[in-house]
Amino acid sequence: MKRDFISLSTFSQEEIEEIFSLTCWLKEKPRQEFRPLANKTAALIFEKPSLRTHVSFGVGIAQLGGQSLFLSQQHIGLSTRESVRDVAEVLSRYNNLIVARTMEHATVEDLATHATIPVINALTDVLHPCQIIADAYTLRERGLLSEETKITFIGDGNNVVNSWLELAEKIPFHFVLACPEGYEPDAQILDHARKANLSRIEILRDPFEAATDADVLYTDVWVSMGQENDEAARQKAFQSYQINSELLRVARPNCVVMHCLPAHRGQEITADVLEGSQSIVLEEAENRLHVQKAIMAYLIGNGEKSSVDIQTHSEILTA
Ligand code: CP
Ligand code: NVA
Repeated sequence: MKRDFISLSTFSQEEIEEIFSLTCWLKEKPRQEFRPLANKTAALIFEKPSLRTHVSFGVGIAQLGGQSLFLSQQHIGLSTRESVRDVAEVLSRYNNLIVARTMEHATVEDLATHATIPVINALTDVLHPCQIIADAYTLRERGLLSEETKITFIGDGNNVVNSWLELAEKIPFHFVLACPEGYEPDAQILDHARKANLSRIEILRDPFEAATDADVLYTDVWVSMGQENDEAARQKAFQSYQINSELLRVARPNCVVMHCLPAHRGQEITADVLEGSQSIVLEEAENRLHVQKAIMAYLIGNGEKSSVDIQTHSEILTA
């Protein structure tokens, strides 16, 4: 049975921990002998722009021994030139993996339904699971991912927040979102996360109340890709939802600052904080590569999830 990576909700805590262990092993040193994608190809479908996701998947696939093919919306006309179903079925005859960034979440789900190969969600309007699993790994590396860790997100209840909420069902932490009225996360995802009762979840209006004693301050753009028509209203609504030095002062002294990037200096975050000593945005960006390599190896390594048992690989490599 092929396995997709569309939403963190379909992975258990044990599986997420397994992906973290594999990431750690892959990041520790170059593993040139580890080539689970040798003689394999991955189709990268991007309906929206990307720097980190496009490059980290392309580089990661090459490092695991495979090759990637970049397919922009202009090239393939997903849902316009051809149905999602036909694209998924045809690509499955040539490739071993599909990585897709789509406008609508339903499109990536459709791709997964019709593809006979694993499909990885590289961001939709609803979720960004690759980002959040990499962010969680980044915090774990720093010993900052426990029930007591207060992760405060300032801004829009968008795809990034929805994925944080899905993670909150699997790994316990304290998640606080400060957002203006009308910009809350997906109601169903929020409800599900609350009902799971694993993490403490709060939605507040006041960014200062939310940031008080935070261990992590996180933000993202006010206007996500695909929301450009709503730009003026969003610029107005989010004016006071900015991570700046004043907000950072009410957080814990060793609070780290995260941003999935791309950033807009002077809007959701000030330049001094983004570039300051508490910012870990480049660590986050780097970890996209390591974590996604682990996800790909996990999904298609040798066909079985047990095949990426890192103990076994370590033994093979040191024999
Ligand atoms: N953080 C992130 O996904 O960046 P890109 O949009 O550049 O891929
Ligand atoms: N919320 C942003 C994330 C970019 C990585 C967007 O969807 O544009």
